Amino acid sequence: MTNTPTNYELHYVDHNDVAATTSWLAATRRAFLDHELRGKLPELYRAQLRESGTQILGMYANHVQPIAGVREPVGTFGNTMGSVNLGSGMLPASLITSATVHPIHRRRGVLRSMMTRALEDASKTGAAVALLTATEATIYGRFGFGAATTRSELEIDIRGGADLRTTGSGTVQEVSPSWLNAHAPAVFERLSQRGYGTVSRLARYNDLLVTDSATGELATKLRAFVHLDESGESDGFALFEVGGFDNRRADILDFVAVTPESYLSLWNVLGHLDLIETLHWKFAAADELLPYALADSRRAKTVHIQDELWVRPLNVIAALEGRGYRREIRESITVRIHDPLEYAAGTFAISVQDGAARVEADASATADLTMDAATFGALFFGAVDAQQLALAGRVEGEPDAVDRFSSMLAAPAPIAISSHF
Ligand SMILES: CC(C)(COP(=O)(O)OP(=O)(O)OC[C@H]1O[C@@H](n2cnc3c(N)ncnc32)[C@H](O)[C@@H]1OP(=O)(O)O)[C@@H](O)C(=O)NCCC(=O)NCCS
Repeated sequence: MTNTPTNYELHYVDHNDVAATTSWLAATRRAFLDHELRGKLPELYRAQLRESGTQILGMYANHVQPIAGVREPVGTFGNTMGSVNLGSGMLPASLITSATVHPIHRRRGVLRSMMTRALEDASKTGAAVALLTATEATIYGRFGFGAATTRSELEIDIRGGADLRTTGSGTVQEVSPSWLNAHAPAVFERLSQRGYGTVSRLARYNDLLVTDSATGELATKLRAFVHLDESGESDGFALFEVGGFDNRRADILDFVAVTPESYLSLWNVLGHLDLIETLHWKFAAADELLPYALADSRRAKTVHIQDELWVRPLNVIAALEGRGYRREIRESITVRIHDPLEYAAGTFAISVQDGAARVEADASATADLTMDAATFGALFFGAVDAQQLALAGRVEGEPDAVDRFSSMLAAPAPIAISSHF
């Protein structure tokens, strides 16, 4: 049950209410220290919310007078029904975005109230898990979210050309960023069908990437490459922004490769950009392929590493039965999960065989392992190891059971990071 703090009012904002949606967007931008929305951006962001079917939650303070007739929310929260591919089709997932509270209204339970309402609604609409990325690691554990994947920020030294061991097949062509906008969703769709850990993208993803956040117009230093397979079909692309003649740096803004051939071919071209000395790739996977593919692996330096996706189980049975497992695993284990918000609470008998799980809730069963919802969320993708979390005091049980759970959940493929929301 959602408890709204006294004197505040929580409600969904109608996509067709332009003034309310615009002031919601303005409040969100301000909280994230972003530019004011200009040029094409207000309409683009409204289109993204509308076309993605994002549920826009706004918290309004009844004791604050509207200024110039506009009632701006003091809290914002977005919730979109999306999906994540965990090796067995697309698992329904609630994608949480834009969680902000105005500093004047902080620490009065505004976030808690919006989160409680959003999780209630996401669970009713069939999401097996809720996903978010966090500005700080201390906010979301209390709501049952655990950090499940990691991203690494790479700086790649391409001075003189960064050769690869194998260069891939097919061809790479330069295209305009707007050509890419039209074609990127279809290429990404192909990736999301096969990339383990791929999260669906919000609408207008690429339109927003190519729009300068300060001016709201098409960014002017963007370049794009597309990879065509042997049959001429596009199966990968890279969008990057060049710094200029004086700074010799380029930033990878989007990189999608459906096949290893397109991955290697695109990197072969990116690694040989004349006049550029450093490529900066903010959203590479923790175990990115690139350093293994480079002839000199030290050209790719990890300059930062950080938690990426936080996962909150909403329906443990649907979540476990909706992901894939390593085919050689044949294992049964019973896990008890504590969850103050109830969604994931219970004792679950899990059997994995032939790459799939069968799960039954059995309140009377003796549990091999006990953990809270956030810990289960952290383990769910299989990128964080149960043995590590047991050593950290977050999983209770005999070492043998921890070991078996660790191999049961191990990711059947490397985690792909290719969407941000
Ligand atoms: C983070 C933020 C949304 C918190 O909103 P809030 O309304 O102040 O949070 P609440 O009052 O509902 O707090 C709920 C609980 O979280 C804790 N909490 C809130 N923000 C926290 C933070 N940044 N670090 C640690 N704990 C935090 C509160 O102390 C409270 O704890 P309790 O469960 O023991 O009572 C708000 O400070 C904010 O908008 N920050 C800037 C934008 C941002 O970082 N958003 C997060 C996007 S991922």
